[in-house]
Amino acid sequence: MSRRLQGKKAFITGAALGIGRASAEAFAREGATVIATDVDAEALAGLDGLDGVTTAVLDVTNPNAIKEIAGSVGPVDVLFNVAAIVHHGSVLDCSDDDWDMSFAVNAKSVHRTVRAFLPGMLESGGGSIINVASTHGLARGGVNRYAYTATKGAIAALTRAIALDFVRQNIRCNCIAPGPILSPSLLARLESGAFAEAGGSSAEEALQQLTDTHPMGRLGETGEVAALAVFLASDESSFITGTAQLVDGGWSL
Ligand SMILES: NC(=O)c1ccc[n+]([C@@H]2O[C@H](COP(=O)([O-])OP(=O)(O)OC[C@H]3O[C@@H](n4cnc5c(N)ncnc54)[C@H](O)[C@@H]3O)[C@@H](O)[C@H]2O)c1
Repeated sequence: MSRRLQGKKAFITGAALGIGRASAEAFAREGATVIATDVDAEALAGLDGLDGVTTAVLDVTNPNAIKEIAGSVGPVDVLFNVAAIVHHGSVLDCSDDDWDMSFAVNAKSVHRTVRAFLPGMLESGGGSIINVASTHGLARGGVNRYAYTATKGAIAALTRAIALDFVRQNIRCNCIAPGPILSPSLLARLESGAFAEAGGSSAEEALQQLTDTHPMGRLGETGEVAALAVFLASDESSFITGTAQLVDGGWSL
């Protein structure tokens, strides 16, 4: 075991499933002390008992809860913002409430966690902030992902703004932009027909159609995103800030 995050404390949102969970496990394997949070208490319980991981229920749309947990956790070395929802539909399907909810969960949450944790990072001499954007809103659009795409574009932009404002204070801020990754929520969306635009009348057919659009002939694994998160959290990425890192197997080529 290489222990690339030995001695680091990492706070993760949206850690119960998929990319967040794989990252919480990978961070802990690399020696970090991990505070894994999610709104889904039942799914989060799957991380209970893992060495180096403490779990806490947190709804990232609740500003008081974010302030409270940041106060109790204290300064962290790594803030990893993963929590998100996917609104399905075009602009014509997106009500003001849909738009507001998408931005509250996906983007305003990042604004709030950074405001809550950055002062502690500055006081303790630095840190790494990692946000999860998407190929949608960065390298390509997303059919019927209007609000989602808008939130992910905002995350890429705010990542650069934070990186530049604090570049001289040993704060790095990067975002990860995955293409389709085989997470429970992607599989659930395939089941629900939310990928109907990819073709196919069943979830299996839609998955095959989506897979066929990938130059590598496969979708990504959550561990392949977690591996990049470990790198960005570690000191190995010390000269990297303000970037959006694609993890999409060449999907956007
Ligand atoms: N899976 C993909 O294909 C893919 C592609 C591009 C980007 N992403 C992004 O990667 C991240 C993880 O995606 P995923 O597919 O692994 O998991 P996911 O879509 O299931 O979401 C991650 C977690 O966010 C949590 N969450 C939702 N609302 C929350 C709230 N209000 N407060 C706290 N937590 C909340 C969910 O409970 C879930 O555990 C997301 O930001 C997603 O947008 C995923």
